[in-house]
Amino acid sequence: MSSIQSNHPASPLIRIENLCKSYSLQDANGKTITNQVLFDINLTINPGEFVAIMGHSGSGKSTLMNILGCLDTPTSGSFWLSGKNVAVLSSDELARIRNQNIGFVFQGFNLLKRMTALDNVAIPLLYAGISRSNSRKQALEFLRRTGLESFAMHQPNQLSGGQQQRVAISRALINHPPLILADEPTGNLDTHTSREIMLLFQQLNRDEGITIVLVTHENDIAAYAKRLIRLKDGYIIVDKNNAAETNLHEAV
Ligand SMILES: Nc1ncnc2c1ncn2[C@@H]1O[C@H](COP(=O)(O)OP(=O)(O)O)[C@@H](O)[C@H]1O
Ligand SMILES: [Mg+2]
Repeated sequence: MSSIQSNHPASPLIRIENLCKSYSLQDANGKTITNQVLFDINLTINPGEFVAIMGHSGSGKSTLMNILGCLDTPTSGSFWLSGKNVAVLSSDELARIRNQNIGFVFQGFNLLKRMTALDNVAIPLLYAGISRSNSRKQALEFLRRTGLESFAMHQPNQLSGGQQQRVAISRALINHPPLILADEPTGNLDTHTSREIMLLFQQLNRDEGITIVLVTHENDIAAYAKRLIRLKDGYIIVDKNNAAETNLHEAV
């Protein structure tokens, strides 16, 4: 397909048009049943935005995040990431786009248990072919930025939940992605630690212009974002500016 067809004329960071997603499952009799999870999603996210996606369990938040992260594909509709039509990319190109454009943060931290914090953060650079010593040097710099420099040689089980999430955020940042996708990043953390992690996201957004899309079902957490999107049964039912955004400077 030509680049004219595969590139969207205006290039926001994320552009989604008329996107639907269905899963096909086999029932007990081997009959295929289709479960539609996302319905006619239209969404534009520009560089520098901080978006919270809210909704009850099962409303399609993670499904949408997996599509945004190029970990899953839509059933119909279009998705452009940084102006590129994701549907026409080869799996190598997709892997490269993911590696260069997106930092992932998950509820369960997803750290490798037998590795130090330093090596967990260095992993994306090692995958990109950078030497171990150079990767570790850069990883230490990112641990410093999230306040964890002195924990570099600790393994995940020697760190608190909040510290483990900081390691995961450092790992997400190390390739300088313009976009961070975080699916319930505070879901396993207590209120105080959740607040610290949200302040860190807010700082990364405000001071470094990193675009953040974060899933939560908690109002207190969503309050740190500049824009709120609410999903209900697979439909976007609210998309608005967050006038009552919790202010970093007031909250500290
Ligand atoms: N891989 C899958 N196969 C089949 N159904 C799925 C799959 N992933 C999610 N679903 C279904 O899609 C719906 C939305 O799930 P999900 O996006 O995880 O919701 P949320 O993150 O808002 O809790 C649920 O009904 C869930 O069972
Ligand atoms: Mg989910």
